[in-house]
Amino acid sequence: MRIQLKQAVSLLQSGNVVSIPTETVYGLAAWIHSPDAIAQVFQLKNRPAINPLILHLAKTDQILHYVSSVPDEFFSLAKAFWPGPLTIILPVNTQKVPSIARAELETCAFRIPSHPIAQQLLEHVWPLVAPSANLSGRPSSTKAEHVEADFGQAFPVLDGGFAIHGVESTIIAHIENQWQIVRQGAISQEALALHLGYVPEKNDSKKQSLSEKPLCPGQLFRHYAPNARLVLSEQPYSKGMAEIVVGFSDRHYPGATKVYSLGSSQNSQEAAFSLYDVLRRLDLDGVVSAWVDMQLPKDGLWQTIHERLSRAANR
Ligand code: TXA
Ligand code: MG
Repeated sequence: MRIQLKQAVSLLQSGNVVSIPTETVYGLAAWIHSPDAIAQVFQLKNRPAINPLILHLAKTDQILHYVSSVPDEFFSLAKAFWPGPLTIILPVNTQKVPSIARAELETCAFRIPSHPIAQQLLEHVWPLVAPSANLSGRPSSTKAEHVEADFGQAFPVLDGGFAIHGVESTIIAHIENQWQIVRQGAISQEALALHLGYVPEKNDSKKQSLSEKPLCPGQLFRHYAPNARLVLSEQPYSKGMAEIVVGFSDRHYPGATKVYSLGSSQNSQEAAFSLYDVLRRLDLDGVVSAWVDMQLPKDGLWQTIHERLSRAANR
């Protein structure tokens, strides 16, 4: 059910869960002062309780109320990238953020979305916890129809049109005196490097030892995956190789009966924008197996697209 801003504010303030638009993907939002609604977010998504949520706010100075300290360069990163698709993990004031939202960690992830409707909403009701609005493990939602497909037509969605980035925010954390990327996303490693003056390392939660708490628990789980089996190939397509192809509009796949296009192979933003819609359409069409053209550049946003497809293929 599509709702207006005013309804979204009152539903959130009265303890309900509402789907909200952001510039990355749609979120499943609850007000931080509604513990039942936060619990419901986990239930609706079937999300493990050990996977913490991101706190969304309208302005950087509001965040200071919830943290116990901020590391070097926090303000300059905030100035450079907010509002926008960057999420920053900070040590949290545990009295101010309920433990269910942060999965009992002593840190919390903060984000200031740039989507104009999200900004307007957050002027009225904040902070909002908001994981991506999809069933756990499945492709995220980049339009209202995707949210309704996962949570039903009656579920309240504040419609903000297409999510322009199409992939989630990049998450960074300050570890041993350096910023590291704990989840790749809409902001590239290069863009962060340009700002920081060094290349932030990509921290792979899977490579951590078992005794350590994972830096980004969500990275441990199955993610972004359609029911269709994805066969990733870095080799060029040769005639008749596969019937169903996920590929690019400027390449040819002779013999394929259907090509799901991620747009031009020269345009990473278009590919990111189309990605989850394509993965969802495979399932809507009942596709069992699709060959995915992975002859992709390795820089910029392509790194994120590569990572998302690799995880989506991992069953
Ligand atoms: O673009 C986005 O970030 C979207 C929109 C709705 O804002 N949100 C989103 O939330 O992607 P979610 O819950 O799907 O992914 C959040 C990720 C999870 O992998 C979680 O483990 C990680 O952030 N995370 C949250 N709090 C954390 C913390 N304190 N420390 C480490 N990782 C954290
Ligand atoms: Mg998610």
